[in-house]
Amino acid sequence: MVKELFLNAKIVVNVLRPEDQRDPLGVAEARQILASAYEILNNHLSNRAGWQVKVSRSPTAPRLRRFSMPGGASFRLTQTFLTAYFGRLTASVLYSRPLYDIQGNSMITGHAFIATSLDGFIARSDGDIQWLLSRDDPSEDHGYNSFIRDIDGIVMGRGSYEKVRTFDEWPYTKPVLVLSKQLAASPVPSNLHSRLRFSNLSPRAAMDRMERDGWRRVYVDGGQIILSFLREGLIDDMVITRIPVLIGAGRPLFGPLSEDISLTHLATKAYPSGLVQSHYRVKR
Ligand SMILES: NC(=O)c1ccc[n+]([C@@H]2O[C@H](COP(=O)([O-])OP(=O)(O)OC[C@H]3O[C@@H](n4cnc5c(N)ncnc54)[C@H](OP(=O)(O)O)[C@@H]3O)[C@@H](O)[C@H]2O)c1
Repeated sequence: MVKELFLNAKIVVNVLRPEDQRDPLGVAEARQILASAYEILNNHLSNRAGWQVKVSRSPTAPRLRRFSMPGGASFRLTQTFLTAYFGRLTASVLYSRPLYDIQGNSMITGHAFIATSLDGFIARSDGDIQWLLSRDDPSEDHGYNSFIRDIDGIVMGRGSYEKVRTFDEWPYTKPVLVLSKQLAASPVPSNLHSRLRFSNLSPRAAMDRMERDGWRRVYVDGGQIILSFLREGLIDDMVITRIPVLIGAGRPLFGPLSEDISLTHLATKAYPSGLVQSHYRVKR
């Protein structure tokens, strides 16, 4: 356990460091060991529905079947342990980027991180989100900062952009692509030139464009946009935070689909404030 945490911490801390202070050799070694652990996991869990991790064979795998701990204690890696270990890795937003890197993914993926009222609305009909902001408890860490840290850019709809423009400050440090027929031909506000683009591309074409721009993990935001990306199979996972309030009517997060979309539940956390956050992976 200690060794695993150490390996993960090594990768995570490395990702958080400035580029010139990273330790590629140490991380490569940690990744190789973790890849071996994933291989064992794959062997144990390959028949389970929804299993997605693919790792190559590694000669170091046998080493991981027993862990030694300080003081001489050691224990065997049981299936229960490995399942819990993998669950912890995938459930934590903080681990998701290193895990994604370990898996060697090069394809662009979409990720939603959004809050809804208990009756499923992300905003009132006029776009108001005060009911949401007023229930935020700044003393609680809901994972947004670690989520956004691992994101290369944000794609959002005009509805979300128009709301963000009413804020005192532009809240994003990552590049933003706004999808909108209405705004596509409009000039970008001069203070946001290097950070914002408008486009009327379709969801798939937009993902292709972002991929060509070097983005790998995209934060997909706005109810209509999330739904249209989901319909196209362009969202990998969703962190949905339910706020303990019923607002009766408004802009929904989800809507009509031509076919069901199955989700794997990864984790749910309840906060003292009453917020309940669930993490789902979209099944392929
Ligand atoms: N609760 C939360 O965590 C949360 C998060 C984000 C946003 N919000 C709130 O939600 C509201 C915005 O969400 P929303 O669902 O109304 O709008 P949205 O998804 O942000 O934007 C929808 C608009 O995007 C454009 N669009 C371009 N391509 C599209 C496509 N493929 N599919 C759908 N729309 C496309 C359309 O405008 P054109 O007609 O110009 O093409 C459409 O009207 C705001 O009030 C915002 O503050 C809440």
